[in-house]
Amino acid sequence: MNKPVIFVDGRDALGAAAREFIDRPKRLFIGGAFTDSVAGGKLMSEDPASGADICAVVAADAEDVDRAVAAARTAFDGAWGKQVPAARAECLTKLAALIYDNLEEIAEIESLDTGKPAHIAKALDVPFAAEIYKYYAGWATKIQGRSFDLSLNPEAFHAFTRREPLGVAAGVIPWNFPFAQASFKLAPALAAGCTVVLKPAEQTPLTALRLAELVVEAGFPEGTVNILTGFGHTAGAALASHPGVDKISFTGSTEVGRKIAAAAAASNLKRVTLELGGKSPNIIFADANLESAIPTAAAAIFGNSGQVCNAGSRLFIEAPIFDQVVSGVRDIAANMQLGAGLNPDSELGPLMSQVQLDRVTGHVDRARGDGASVLCGGSRAGDSGYFFAPTVLAETTADMAVAREEIFGPVVCAMPFETESEITGLANDTNFGLAASIWTENIGKAHRMAAAVNAGAVWVNSFGVFDPNLPFGGYKESGWGREFGIEGIDAFLETKAVSVSIGA
Ligand code: NAI
Ligand code: MG
Repeated sequence: MNKPVIFVDGRDALGAAAREFIDRPKRLFIGGAFTDSVAGGKLMSEDPASGADICAVVAADAEDVDRAVAAARTAFDGAWGKQVPAARAECLTKLAALIYDNLEEIAEIESLDTGKPAHIAKALDVPFAAEIYKYYAGWATKIQGRSFDLSLNPEAFHAFTRREPLGVAAGVIPWNFPFAQASFKLAPALAAGCTVVLKPAEQTPLTALRLAELVVEAGFPEGTVNILTGFGHTAGAALASHPGVDKISFTGSTEVGRKIAAAAAASNLKRVTLELGGKSPNIIFADANLESAIPTAAAAIFGNSGQVCNAGSRLFIEAPIFDQVVSGVRDIAANMQLGAGLNPDSELGPLMSQVQLDRVTGHVDRARGDGASVLCGGSRAGDSGYFFAPTVLAETTADMAVAREEIFGPVVCAMPFETESEITGLANDTNFGLAASIWTENIGKAHRMAAAVNAGAVWVNSFGVFDPNLPFGGYKESGWGREFGIEGIDAFLETKAVSVSIGA
């Protein structure tokens, strides 16, 4: 039996700065100014811990996308495009410092809008965003081409490459880590010299608008960053098909990722980066350090209430330790404190929305019907907000929907395996390929498995190692391209090969 869910009045629990922000008008940020939508659209952001409305926010439409893209183009051709790299670095560095100055306030707003524990947003999500800006501030001054000796006539030409910014970049982001996701799009694009139009998810528009205020304070020239709160099927779709957008970087569902790739192809063949879903295997061998593997397996699926693209949702356990690991994870699940993010005792927040609650509930109900056994959780928790009890399923087989589809909730499928070759096949029997964890004290086995799994990130005796310098992205239907590291800035640069005849 889980502990009772803790509820708080989200607004009352905010500090003064966050409350003042909530009371300010929430408008689009275009060309350096806050403005209404041409068509007058609005959306309502809600607190998923209670289902209560927080505040109304202007919703951008296609005309607003046109205005924002035009402002971004003007800045690219002008003020931002003409900045020297060191000035780009300085703006990014200032933005990072401003984020640290306002850490508590941003974390509280993020917590209210997403439901996630404020103490986690303050310790992880918001500082990580600041570190991404700092990291890419460093890259702004280190972009360089190469020189080439041509293979057929090296004496006739001096040949070299230039790396040039792609132009106007669009970022479309999801609701699970809104403030951090904004930095994943903005920081590398701006460091590369692009200008940006960012569209946050309609469920979580708030911290992006606080970021817009900090962008002004940091001194970015007007139009360099434009932020359009709005819906996916209107503002998002308009960005994906816009002929004035040179690049779109998207994070979200595989279904929308396909639509964005199709819209990009049908419009101007804009460059596309996609960070999509996952069904990541967490593989525990019998020789693993279980003191570390068991709590990490729980954190890997229950963290952020399972609303994480790289969640360890398929827990594969070598047969001799199956019962021990499953009961360890189940005990952790049963003891987690669910509650509103602004209560300091909450370990797990709610799911994002009624839609997500229905989706997760539907997956678990279907799994029951397919023959899975529910060892703990399995249903909604509390009777307001969108809480779902951490859930451990056993007797799930690789062919069941619950073991194949991304659930995006605190639901893990525990499955036994016998041999290394069997587990390699099981781990790779998925359309996704975002991440994998491998737990073993045998170094040879660890390296063999790391090479054998088809995933963009492999974590050995750990989980969820994220660093600004480490590329992250998916194999197969988990996406196209990489974020972070040098790959992350490459994704906003074009390569031009220049050959100068030197007359030989
Ligand atoms: P989504 O993919 O619909 O939303 C992500 C972003 O895309 C939002 O900003 C949304 O407004 C925008 N969008 C929606 N339709 C669009 C369109 N036609 N053109 C351009 N932009 C569009 O994700 P949703 O519906 O909120 O969640 C559904 C499922 O997606 C989740 O259950 C989960 O499985 C997966 N998901 C994966 C995420 C990840 O981090 N990889 C994050 C969020 C959701
Ligand atoms: Mg919200």
